[in-house]
Amino acid sequence: MLLVAIVDIAVSQEVHSPGDKVRLRFSLEADGTPVYQLSFKGKDVIRPSKLGFYLKNDKNSLLNDFTVVDTKTTSFDETWTPVWGEVNKIRNKYNELAVTLNQKESARQILIRFRLFDDGLGFRYEFPSQKNLAYFVIKEERTQFAMPGDITAFWIPGDYDTQEYDYTKSKLSEIRPLMAKSITANLSQTSFSPTGVQTSLMLKSNDGLYINLHEAAVINYPVMHLNLDDKNMVFESWLTPDAIGDKGYMQAPCTTPWRTVIISDDARDILASKMTYNLNEPSKISDVSWIKPTKYIGVWWEMITGKSTWAYTDEYPTVQLGITDYAKAKPNGRHGANNANVKKYIDFAALHGFDSVLVEGWNIGWEDWFGNSKDYVFDFVTPYPDFNVKELHAYAASKGVKLIMHHETSASTRNYERWIDTAYKFMKANGYDAVKSGYVGPILPRGENHYSQWTVNHYQYAIEKAAKYHIMVNAHEAARPTGIGRTWPNLIGNEAARGTEYQAFGGSKSNHVTVLPFTRLIGGPMDYTPGIFEMDISKINPGNKSHVNSTLANQLALYVTMYSPLQMAADLPENYNRFLDAFQFIKDVAVDWDDSKYLEAEPGDYITVARKAKGTGKWFVGNVNGETPRISNIGFDFLEPGKTYVATIYADAKNAHYKTNPQAYTIRKVIVNNKSKLAQLSAPGGGYAISIVEADKAQTKGLKKL
Ligand code: NOJ
Ligand code: CA
Repeated sequence: MLLVAIVDIAVSQEVHSPGDKVRLRFSLEADGTPVYQLSFKGKDVIRPSKLGFYLKNDKNSLLNDFTVVDTKTTSFDETWTPVWGEVNKIRNKYNELAVTLNQKESARQILIRFRLFDDGLGFRYEFPSQKNLAYFVIKEERTQFAMPGDITAFWIPGDYDTQEYDYTKSKLSEIRPLMAKSITANLSQTSFSPTGVQTSLMLKSNDGLYINLHEAAVINYPVMHLNLDDKNMVFESWLTPDAIGDKGYMQAPCTTPWRTVIISDDARDILASKMTYNLNEPSKISDVSWIKPTKYIGVWWEMITGKSTWAYTDEYPTVQLGITDYAKAKPNGRHGANNANVKKYIDFAALHGFDSVLVEGWNIGWEDWFGNSKDYVFDFVTPYPDFNVKELHAYAASKGVKLIMHHETSASTRNYERWIDTAYKFMKANGYDAVKSGYVGPILPRGENHYSQWTVNHYQYAIEKAAKYHIMVNAHEAARPTGIGRTWPNLIGNEAARGTEYQAFGGSKSNHVTVLPFTRLIGGPMDYTPGIFEMDISKINPGNKSHVNSTLANQLALYVTMYSPLQMAADLPENYNRFLDAFQFIKDVAVDWDDSKYLEAEPGDYITVARKAKGTGKWFVGNVNGETPRISNIGFDFLEPGKTYVATIYADAKNAHYKTNPQAYTIRKVIVNNKSKLAQLSAPGGGYAISIVEADKAQTKGLKKL
């Protein structure tokens, strides 16, 4: 009896977060298996869960037989300044427990580092330099997250190649039957297991805790998915395999990414959490003067909707004609990236004060890509005959507008790496300082996955290479972000989720945008490409019957609710010209912030946030609403006391509905101060947006108080 108690003391450690909200207990089981458990304000968050690794060709693996050789507890408190962000200062405050473990028989050491914040836990494995563990191959990581019962999850299927799914809200026990149904319904969907899901995974416990599982700083390691044991409600890490089924190739000294658990009893805290960034390294770019938050339009939606094409011709020049000289090919007459059309967009950007214009389909190769799957269909330097790089750059520059480069890599990572220096030099020589890259289709080399270690390293290589050239990166179809934008702030955007393009591919769930900030945006900004004003896509392309499941006011709110230093106004100029009064909000809204206040939040139902524009003192509010009409109640106590402001409120009209009446909105101007209160109706799939500007007497004349 006594002996057991002594052993228990020796192998069990407890550590609390600075404000004592979150508590972690680490211990070893009788056979030397490391175990942790976690609570928030005394409630179970993670029940006892095992830690370790299965190694390839290694009889011991790193699962058990451990003893604790050292534990260290330390505290840290620092405030840092992000290059761009929702706030201008971030506090990084935690208590740390570092446990060094020795595996007895193999004489190998690993260290597990736990950081306890008041909003959650981050922990990672570290492999110190040592004789008995130099090179090793991870067959699987065994990190468990034992859930406090059959709780609610917002999940998408485990997939090694895409996150472009609508979310399903269900109990954990319902994942298996619902996944089976959703995969049969859409054969393009896939999962490695009948209960495999992706992170960032948002959960809500039955006693009202909001729990988010994700990771931070995924560098030189595969993306972690989670596999649910739905008898015991235990998630276990499931790393993305490489082409031969291995997971991670490691060389000590090295570390894994951080595994994160963000927790609160108030959903707003999950959105406000900066834990993921805090677990990443400080910026490795010292001169950040060239990194600029950007608002842009693009020759894009017209291709996505099918009105025009990326390709110049409908023939496959290199295959069918045996030529690479596109000037000899027959133009299809619908090529979007032609000089006259691009100039039209540049004019529109200049007229309305946008920073940049993205142009896709400017370079040769699209016909070949659609026609076959060679690994080198694209170069990134040869324009189509009707796109004059120098002329368009000069034209844009004369109007104070930048062009954003587009590199569709066709997921041929090797080909992109062959071209990358040439392509980035070409960009700099032609005045481009931002690139949208894309990885559509199966990864080439064949058999690799979008989220495997090798491919993760490719995305990182491109980001770091771009930094050398002072190029900002917005990568689509890459691995979902994990806060790396702190270390490499030139990564100003990512897609890695179901973006607005799906509204033109058949539509997304009307509450999708009330989930994304709780899932995909936990790791960093998303290039969601909001701003669609024409919801009936057949009006743009009669052959496309898609409907955008959102009201126009909801589209405005997205500029505030979907935080990103890179924001697009995605619709066609002609659609904006029909609603210039509403378009004014998109023109006015900021893309970089001094402060953010989450006013209301419930995943799947609604989000309301107020943000203070960087350096101007203006405030912008956004509310997005799910399927059920709702009155949003907010106060304006974020405003400075004693000051008077004019608020312009862009809201759903009473009869608005995302399906039947999406363009019904009202705009009203009222006087507000920090005591004002608003009760505002949001329609199904609706919302509202407010711009708030300090005003003098003359500017408030004739306006009513809210
Ligand atoms: C998919 C991307 O999400 C989209 O934005 C892009 O236009 C196409 N790929 C073509 O590269
Ligand atoms: Ca995409």
